[in-house]
Amino acid sequence: MAALTVGAATLPLAAKSEDALRFDPQAFTQQSLTMPDGQQVNYKAYEGIFYVRNVEDSTYQTLNIYVPEKLADIPAVPVFLRTYVGGYAASTAKSPSPADATGRALKEGYVVCIPGSRGSNSTIVRDGQTIYTGTAPNGLLDLKAAVRYLRYNDDLIPGSSELIFTDGTSAGGAMSSLLGATGNAKDYEPMLKKMGAADVRDDVFAAICYCPITDLNHADMEYEWLYGCTNTGVRALSNAQIVISDELAAECPAYINSLGLKMSDGTPVTADNYKEYLKTFLIASAHKALQEGCEIPDTIGFSFYQDQSGPMGAGPAPAGRRGTRPQIGDGRNAPSFGPGNMPRFNKTSDFVTGLDLDKYLSYVASVTPLKTPPAFDQMGVLIDTPSPENNVFGNEKGEAANFTDFSLRHRLGNVKAQLSDDMKFRVAVMNPMNYIGSDKSTVAQNWYIRHGAKDRDTSFLVPLNLATKLQNAGKNVDFFLPWNRPHSGDYNLDDLFAWIAGLVR
Ligand code: DHB
Repeated sequence: MAALTVGAATLPLAAKSEDALRFDPQAFTQQSLTMPDGQQVNYKAYEGIFYVRNVEDSTYQTLNIYVPEKLADIPAVPVFLRTYVGGYAASTAKSPSPADATGRALKEGYVVCIPGSRGSNSTIVRDGQTIYTGTAPNGLLDLKAAVRYLRYNDDLIPGSSELIFTDGTSAGGAMSSLLGATGNAKDYEPMLKKMGAADVRDDVFAAICYCPITDLNHADMEYEWLYGCTNTGVRALSNAQIVISDELAAECPAYINSLGLKMSDGTPVTADNYKEYLKTFLIASAHKALQEGCEIPDTIGFSFYQDQSGPMGAGPAPAGRRGTRPQIGDGRNAPSFGPGNMPRFNKTSDFVTGLDLDKYLSYVASVTPLKTPPAFDQMGVLIDTPSPENNVFGNEKGEAANFTDFSLRHRLGNVKAQLSDDMKFRVAVMNPMNYIGSDKSTVAQNWYIRHGAKDRDTSFLVPLNLATKLQNAGKNVDFFLPWNRPHSGDYNLDDLFAWIAGLVR
């Protein structure tokens, strides 16, 4: 079937048939990239393809597909869908890079898809008016439409649309988590239909989420509940900020308890034991780093096993630090997070014996200054400046908006103010937590979630709750807090691609 790619949106209405979404296997250019090891990877590049019939924003609503010359020699080749969304902004369809997972995926013989998507700053001019096109959930809808495009053309695009791996970092990690959590959910259906997305399923096989900035409507309380211990210390908040921090933190225990999460051994996770639960993951991270030869200062909260005949085999480690070779230990061969395999500190064989969490959080805050409260829905509470999240929840005119009752009430000075039903809906469809463990969607079976052990862009609760909820729902979850990692993504690709290979090879 001849496909209409670039320019389809400008064709007369009569030509906008179902076929406008058909992939043209002949419409490629030959391209290559050179990997860091010098290997040249050749591939066919199919670029600038519109993935919806009713294109509103031709700058962003396109995708690129890259098909390696040497497809992996396996019965079904995965499709690696990488979003470059950052800061909830718009993102154009990009080319693969040897420096990240896209180049690596091509080298592995996997098909790569890089969709663009609208975001907080994308605009078009309509009737002389500037219209913001990427207000939430439009960016997500674009990515879901891209998934549908792949499935709609499964017979024409090499690779299997039943093996789609989504990947993104930060706001892109949030998008990846949403793609993983919201497959086929009815909430999005009318909007996708209006856009002219292909009328096929949009569930995916696996979601790779690096530091997902998600659960936005609870992220403020989670941030203050965790980092409140630093308010009068390294964070040095003003009195007014402390009042807001305390109010937010006070809302968090009820939220934690409402989730009904369980540890892998079935123990309920509550606000009372949450910090001990979190500590097991931070200790697992430090422990792994020590095993990999990293140095960990004595001053950041960890305590160490110091038996003379201890596991290091060389007597007590020198004062000031433990371990030998300095390097980033980011959790390669990390213990996987799956049923019955919770990272647990083993006191007799491991050499991190404990963690003073408050001390460690102060360390994290000393590396990168924390956000001020509220960390996400900040507009109009103590400062007027909108956050990226205020912008993405804004309107077509580009006016930013609050997305929690808490901040709305503070901004309006009205303790009874409430989000509109429309805003509540927009917030709900942007939160993967609403879909996991429900019957509202087809949730991806496989999850790879990473959040750096010194990443303070959101609270550790956000990725940990996501991972735990998925695990509780019976999903295959590989979750780790890689040691010494700040807010970043697509790192430790050997580990990631070993995980992928384990699922598809
Ligand atoms: C991103 C980082 C943030 O701290 C945030 O609040 C939203 C998005 C990002 O890097 O995408």
